[in-house]
Amino acid sequence: MSSAENQSPSPAQHQKAWGGVFREPTDKRVELFSESISYDRRLADDDIDGSIAHARMLAQCGLVSVQEADTIAQVLEEIRGEIHAGRFEYTVSKEDIHLHIESALTARLGDTGRKIHTARSRNDQVATDLRLFCRRAIDRLDQGLADLQRAFLGFAEREQDLVIPAYTHLRRAQPVLAAHQLLAWCEKFGRDRDRLADCRRRTNVLPLGSGALAGSSLPIDRDRVRESLGFASVAANSLDGASDRDFACELAFVIALSMVHLSQWAEEWIIYSTQEFGFLKLPEGFCTGSSIMPQKINPDVLELVRGKSARTIGNVQALLVLLKGLPTAYNRDLQEDKETLFDSIDTLEASLGVAAPLVTGTSFDRDRITATIEKGHLDATSLMEALIAQGVPQRTAHEIVGRLVRLAMSRGVALADLSDQEFSGEYTGWNDALRGALGASRAVARMASFGSTAPAGVAEQIAGWRQRLGAAATP
Ligand code: ARG
Repeated sequence: MSSAENQSPSPAQHQKAWGGVFREPTDKRVELFSESISYDRRLADDDIDGSIAHARMLAQCGLVSVQEADTIAQVLEEIRGEIHAGRFEYTVSKEDIHLHIESALTARLGDTGRKIHTARSRNDQVATDLRLFCRRAIDRLDQGLADLQRAFLGFAEREQDLVIPAYTHLRRAQPVLAAHQLLAWCEKFGRDRDRLADCRRRTNVLPLGSGALAGSSLPIDRDRVRESLGFASVAANSLDGASDRDFACELAFVIALSMVHLSQWAEEWIIYSTQEFGFLKLPEGFCTGSSIMPQKINPDVLELVRGKSARTIGNVQALLVLLKGLPTAYNRDLQEDKETLFDSIDTLEASLGVAAPLVTGTSFDRDRITATIEKGHLDATSLMEALIAQGVPQRTAHEIVGRLVRLAMSRGVALADLSDQEFSGEYTGWNDALRGALGASRAVARMASFGSTAPAGVAEQIAGWRQRLGAAATP
């Protein structure tokens, strides 16, 4: 009666994966309420990778034989194949992906399979799987953001010489090179990529070996598992290791901020592509029509990107609220982290998937922009700075130019159309050199300090991004 074989549970006890203590099966309503297999099946690859690494470590530490570990790995790969082929059966009675895979393994290997959960709990297992999942997601999102940056860079290269009005308060402000404005998006998405990389550092820590919360009394080698799964370090405290979800919150936030950037971009391009502005021509393949108004070509893709940012912002809050009431170590509430996080990842990935080709397919209406570029006194700041350069105090220069703009407005002309006499009326030191500050193109050319919009500086920005981003992508 004492052989391991004899102690294996009877089929009846199999109803609960954790066996012994229960005398009653789980209520069917509870099974439905508490299952996570409907969504955590997305962790299957990570769960299998984690289990194979764990089995190999168990063999190295003498807790299973090398042959047993080999068989476990082989069968886990078979299971992976079935999952990928859609031949794996899921049932809510097995709760989550961890129990599904373990029970499939045990069904095929008997006692050998029953050893895989040695020195492991689902608490450190799910934490490990989720980190592996997030690490892969981070790498894909980084690629998606890089492709989007390349799309903006390519657009900037095509439009290097075009001068457009730039806006503050959505009022015409100063002229800039179109390329300068497109590269502003490269900066924002570049910071998002930095944040992803930073979040990846804290994601890339191995929780496995934390057990349920106290670690293990068995002689395991966590560093070995760390190495096979490519983690940079091992969680140093088992209580924290099994329950830390900071990385999930950070990722959700980085995603939300990336979506906020995408949303701002979408809003801007919706405005720029209106008939009223007429700056941008969106690719028709990325617009949709109206069921009643035959003439409509709507920017639905941009609107959806803007709209989808909302849920990613909500997801950050959902995760923070989920965590805020939890005492130390694992609580089942943590199961609720996944759908939220998956949704954020999916939303950004899908948005990036349409944003990059939309940017690549968009062009400026150069004629329309150029025809109105001298409207709105975009060169007023340029003139003010020219006066400052000649020794006029800034506040005085501001007032002088303000009065000149008022004069030009009353006559319905541009600043450059005022006569020398009119200029001298407001500023007795008026001279020809000051005229060099007038006109949108000249105003742009004079903006030569670091980070400004003059052509040489913008060319440098383009070269810098080209170097960092590599050859043009074809999204
Ligand atoms: N499905 C669970 C989750 O996602 C796995 C961990 C379950 N652990 C437990 N002690 N019930 O969080």
